[in-house]
Amino acid sequence: MTFGYALHTCLGAPLARLESRVVLEQLLERFPDLRLARGYRREPAPGLVMVRRPARLDNLL
Ligand code: HEM
Repeated sequence: MTFGYALHTCLGAPLARLESRVVLEQLLERFPDLRLARGYRREPAPGLVMVRRPARLDNLL
């Protein structure tokens, strides 16, 4: 769903997936204890129709 479908498939999807993998690997290597902060609740960002993301992402390093 993130990268569209059929005629609307994202041409950059393989690059975006590779970049995501590198970022997550580096982040977890640098902060192996990374975890969500206690009591974290997912709150949708207000006013965004096309972009889905939490309003904030509290975590502990
Ligand atoms: C997380 C990153 C990305 C997301 C979520 C994303 C998402 C999308 C989506 C949903 C579409 C289809 C839009 C539609 O026609 O309905 C699209 C199209 C496209 N994306 Fe991405 N994209 C990302 C990264 C990239 C990157 C890194 C590149 C290039 C290096 C790229 C190049 C393109 C191109 C050229 C199209 C148009 C394809 C076409 O109409 O044939 N995207 N993208």
